Amino acid sequence: MKLATTYLGLKLKNPLIVGASPFSDSVHAACQLQDAGAAALVMRSLFEEQIDAEQRALIHHIESPAESTSEATSFFPSFEEYQLTPDLYLKQIEHLKNSLTIPVIASLNGCRPGGWTDYAQKFAAAGADAIELNLYQLVTNPEISGDEVEADMLETVRRVASSVKIPIAVKLSAFHTSPAQFALALEEAGAAGVVVFNRFYQSDLNTDEMEVQPQLKLSDSSELLLRLRWLAILSPHVRGSLAATGGVHSSDDVAKAILSGAHGVQLVSVLLKHGPRVLSTLLNGLQHWMGEHSYTDVNEFRGAMNLKRCPDPAGFERANYMRILQSWRV
Ligand SMILES: Cc1cc2nc3c(=O)[nH]c(=O)nc-3n(C[C@H](O)[C@H](O)[C@H](O)COP(=O)(O)O)c2cc1C
Repeated sequence: MKLATTYLGLKLKNPLIVGASPFSDSVHAACQLQDAGAAALVMRSLFEEQIDAEQRALIHHIESPAESTSEATSFFPSFEEYQLTPDLYLKQIEHLKNSLTIPVIASLNGCRPGGWTDYAQKFAAAGADAIELNLYQLVTNPEISGDEVEADMLETVRRVASSVKIPIAVKLSAFHTSPAQFALALEEAGAAGVVVFNRFYQSDLNTDEMEVQPQLKLSDSSELLLRLRWLAILSPHVRGSLAATGGVHSSDDVAKAILSGAHGVQLVSVLLKHGPRVLSTLLNGLQHWMGEHSYTDVNEFRGAMNLKRCPDPAGFERANYMRILQSWRV
């Protein structure tokens, strides 16, 4: 069976990519994942706010040491809470590159154009094979239009992509009015691939303490469905690569993502739950499924279930929606 795929122009031995997560903090853990079959590794993110805060603190430190602690009073994490400072992040890219043979994709997380995007060049200089730019943002200001938000995001992508030679993937939210149009605009701005989708971490309310309670729940396969739908919609239109992130837990999930059009399939929750060995279970399961369906190469069935041959994808989706609602009887 041929499992090799090309993602962002990088040759991967199979489609399984370790998604952005704490796994990249440990070279030992990363090596275990590689040995178990991971074809690439995305590092945890370095954040726009983290870079900005460090740059501000540096200036304040020089001008007025007292001000350098101002960041600690805000609701953003203090310096100590970040696992990796910007300097350590660059060193970690070097460590990972020295120990791994699979591609290492560094992750930059932010959405407004600014000095922080200079880190793309530092990532490339440290040896990163690609950059995943995560545009995570929840817009709460009613005076800001979707167009303004997307214009800022596109300018950010343009700046990052034009500053380096390595490929840029953009990790996207599902909450754009027209994700297909935006994905094409991202490619126009220089993105070599799109990663669908960011998971928005939902806070709960503690009604005893009357407090907002941030929480991190690992995903399950039900979250993959939103990704499959958009992979199937985007796949006929985009020129570059597509990756799925969110809800991939079984070899069937991997096959579904590829059938919908994914070149790469990112995994985090399943690895946190079951450890690196689950990778070989997924790869064996994928090969078994391919055998049963007479496929010998993953590239044969990529996008086989996308909406390319559907004459009216929006009508098809709406028809399914109406049919589902009609299917309930009480
Ligand atoms: C503990 C943890 C840390 C994460 N850190 C990052 C990060 O730094 N940057 C990022 O883009 N995504 C991060 N993610 C999101 C994952 O990359 C992934 O998109 C998400 O967990 C959905 O995939 P899954 O269903 O396989 O878990 C993190 C997820 C977890 C669980």
